[in-house]
Amino acid sequence: MRRGSLIQLAAIAVVAAGICVAVALAIPWLPQAAGKEAQRIDMVYWFTTGIAIAVFSVVVSVIAYSLWKFRARPDDDSDGPPIHGHTRLEIVWTAVPAILVTAISIISAIVLAQNSNAGPNPVKIGVLARQFAWSFTYPNGKTYGYLELPVNRKTQLDITSDDVIHSFWVPQLSQKQDAVPGQHNKLVVTPITTGTFPVICTELCGLGHSLMRSHVTIVSQADFTKFLKGGATSGPPGLAVFQQFGCSGCHTLKPAGATGTTGPDLDKLQQYATQAHRGSLEAFIKESIVSPGAYIQPGYQNVMPAIFGQQIPPDKLTQLVQYLAQNAK
Ligand code: CUA
Repeated sequence: MRRGSLIQLAAIAVVAAGICVAVALAIPWLPQAAGKEAQRIDMVYWFTTGIAIAVFSVVVSVIAYSLWKFRARPDDDSDGPPIHGHTRLEIVWTAVPAILVTAISIISAIVLAQNSNAGPNPVKIGVLARQFAWSFTYPNGKTYGYLELPVNRKTQLDITSDDVIHSFWVPQLSQKQDAVPGQHNKLVVTPITTGTFPVICTELCGLGHSLMRSHVTIVSQADFTKFLKGGATSGPPGLAVFQQFGCSGCHTLKPAGATGTTGPDLDKLQQYATQAHRGSLEAFIKESIVSPGAYIQPGYQNVMPAIFGQQIPPDKLTQLVQYLAQNAK
């Protein structure tokens, strides 16, 4: 092969690589990493992307060069030269991809091992998914509808589900983990920056799937300790029950800051009860929690799970009913 040809091939490859690098860097493909695990995963992405750009550039330059130099002229009906292959070239184009793929798998295995290492003393938080809400149980035994994490410390999430398969995902923390009934899947997160990010269900789980969201707030370690001691929510006991059982996943309730729209708007309970004619306001609310299918508010579907009668202890159920009734009056 002549030297001029090599220079032309290399020039095409450099142009192709330049365009690819510009596209890769100019567009924010990945969310800003808010955790160490996400940083490592981003590193694997960039490592793989770098290899992909290099391989793509070489292939594109050879194709472009061939189209340019070896194109058959019009009326050229002669056969091409008889070629039997090139053993050295074939060894090279088998060995190089094998080495690259092996490198990707080694780096991925290292990152997977590092990302699942919870260390000697992680903060442990239970994550419960149910149609269609998240609830988080902290080391102090309290449960809230949102996630609070300390920065620069490993937290091990213990993820499970009450009904169907959901999947826990915070884009800025990068990892997804399935929430499966009867299983306790672990996920280690080490936040590196404070801030508030969305918690998203990323497994199609029913009517309210697209609304099955919460948020994670990453705070300083001192603020996290304060949060565990004080319990961030003060207010009527019924509000804690409302948050613990994830009612906000589906319902709107202004005093609780809940904005779900899958189920009826709980700020309108008085009006609904008047329309429904099913006894007192309290009786109507209790029936709607325990036997949600008994009466369906027009405009909504019969999708609320009939599990809360067993799940919510009687005293807490009373607190919840009172809380909702007082708010509606
Ligand atoms: Cu839960 Cu989608």
